[in-house]
Amino acid sequence: MAKKEVPAARQTTINAQPRIHQHASEIQSYGTVSHGLPLELEEPVRLEMTEQLNLLLADTMTLRDLYKKSHWQVAGPTFYQLHLLFDKHFGEQVEIVDEIAERIQLLGGVSLAMAADVAETTRIERPPRGREEVPVQISRLLDVHQIIIGHCRELAELATKLGDAGTNDLVVSDVLRPNELQVWFLSEHLVEMPLVQAQEPGIRKAG
Ligand SMILES: [Fe+2]
Repeated sequence: MAKKEVPAARQTTINAQPRIHQHASEIQSYGTVSHGLPLELEEPVRLEMTEQLNLLLADTMTLRDLYKKSHWQVAGPTFYQLHLLFDKHFGEQVEIVDEIAERIQLLGGVSLAMAADVAETTRIERPPRGREEVPVQISRLLDVHQIIIGHCRELAELATKLGDAGTNDLVVSDVLRPNELQVWFLSEHLVEMPLVQAQEPGIRKAG
């Protein structure tokens, strides 16, 4: 029996050297979904959902980074508690980013990943590089939450309409509700409240 020939392209010399500086074409383009997934979700639905989720991802990555900026740059008498709170919210947003990105991948899409692509995609206003006062930092964070929460409500409804219950569940349970909770924790810091002496009943103004 003739000896089976190994194709030339597969012939390799076995040695311990790492093959660095390798390049090749992309295996999947951004903005596409792979065809043959047994998810019982039509390709147009997966295309629509992955496009929407990438927008949500870009905004969430921006919010995540805004929390770290706020954590580093905060100043004033509430420095310590806000420094910790901003970092706690940052950590929670890191998890949300991962949930959204992996949902995009499992739907057959391609997740945004790099800062330059996020910057081109996000709808969130770019903050200055310098430091801002605490009320401005918190207002800025609340504005971003508002954009994300609004998008979550629309996207959850669209996902249900298109039959994508998994995306609806992710958006409501893993994105919307943690964002609502973070809004509560932030917005309580913008309530004017005496620190030492209570206000006399006569001069209290109803909000
Ligand atoms: Fe830190």
